Amino acid sequence: MSPSSFTLFFTTLTFSFLFFFPTPSHSRLTLDFYKDTCPQFTKIIQDTVTSKQISTPTTAAATIRLFLHDCLLPNGCDASILLSSTPFSSAERDNDINLSLPGDAFDLVVRAKTALELACPNTVSCSDILAASTRDLLVMLGGPTFPVFLGRRDGTLSTSSSVTNHLPKPDMPLTTIINIFTQRGFSVEEFVALTGAHTVGLSHCSEFSNNIFNNSSNNGYNPRFAQALHKACANYKKDPTLSVFNDIMTPGKFDNVYFQNLPKGLGVLRSDHELYSDYRTRPFVEKFAADQNEFFKVFAKSMEKLSLLGVKTGRRGEIRRRCDQIN
Ligand code: HEM
Repeated sequence: MSPSSFTLFFTTLTFSFLFFFPTPSHSRLTLDFYKDTCPQFTKIIQDTVTSKQISTPTTAAATIRLFLHDCLLPNGCDASILLSSTPFSSAERDNDINLSLPGDAFDLVVRAKTALELACPNTVSCSDILAASTRDLLVMLGGPTFPVFLGRRDGTLSTSSSVTNHLPKPDMPLTTIINIFTQRGFSVEEFVALTGAHTVGLSHCSEFSNNIFNNSSNNGYNPRFAQALHKACANYKKDPTLSVFNDIMTPGKFDNVYFQNLPKGLGVLRSDHELYSDYRTRPFVEKFAADQNEFFKVFAKSMEKLSLLGVKTGRRGEIRRRCDQIN
C-alpha cells in the first residue's frame, strides 16, 4: 500500500467509525459547563435548595422522586416531567403515576430557574437545575454526593402516554420492575441500591392499602406495623392526602436503615417487601443493611448513571425560558 492510499484508508476508517459510533451525548457534558457563562450557577442552586429544604423539609425526597421520574423515561433527563399539558396533549406529569409528585419539588426548580434567569438569562437548562438540586438535597439529608456533569438541554416533548410501563409501581411483579431498570442499563444490585432512596419520604395510603386491609396475613408485614398502618390509614378514602413515612425508624435521614427494616417486615410498599423475599434481590438488601458505606458507594454510582440517561446536547433540545413550557 502506498503512503497516500494508506492515509486515505485510515481517514476513511476514522470517518466511518465516527459516523457509525458517534460520541455519546453524555460524554459531551462537563463538570464546569457554566464556568464562563454562569459562574454563579453552583451558589444559586445551593442557596435555593437550602432555603427551600429548611422551610419545607419534604422537598428533598420529593425532588429525588421527581428526578427519577424524569430520567427513567425513554426521553431521558430532559426535564420533560416539568412541562405542563396543553389543550392538545396531556403531559407526563399528568399521567396517574405522576399525580402524587409533590408541588414543592416543581416549585424548587421554578425558584432556582427564576434566580438563574436573572443572573444569566437563557443559559441554564431546567434539566441541569433538576440534576444539581437533587444531588445537593441528597447531601443535605446525609446521603452520599456524586458528580453532576452539566450541559444537558431541555426536551420539547412530553406525553402522558410515554410514561406507561416505564416507571415502577408497587403492585407490578418484581420481574417487571427489575426489567424497567435493566432495560435502562442498571444491574439488579444498582436497582436495589437506588430503591434505597425509600429511606426518606412518604407514601400515600392508597399506594399500599390493598395489602394491609384486604390481605393482612402472610404479606410480609410485621403484624404490629400492619396494625399501625391500619390505624394511620383508616380514613384514607375520605382523605386521600393521608400518608406514612417510608422509613419509620429514621424518616428524615438518608441512611441504610430502610434495608435493615425490610427483614423485620417494616417495609411500606409491596415492592419494598419483595426486595427481601425474592432470591434475586435479597443478597443486596442484606449487604446494604450490613454496610452503609457499600450502600452509599453503589447508590452514588447509580445516581450518576441515572443523571446521564438519554441526555440531549448540541443542537438537540433547547434551553427553556420557563421550565413548564417549551420556548
Ligand atoms: C421498586 C421500585 C420502586 C417503586 C415501585 C416505587 C414506588 C414509589 C411509590 C408508590 C411512592 C409513594 C409516592 C406517594 O405516595 O406520594 C414512592 C416514593 C418515593 N420513591 Fe419510589 N419507587 C421505586 C423506586 C424508587 C427509586 C429507584 C427511587 C430513587 C432513586 C425512588 C425514590 C422515591 C422517593 C424519594 C420517594 C418519596 C417521595 C416523597 O416523599 O414525596 N423510588 N415510590
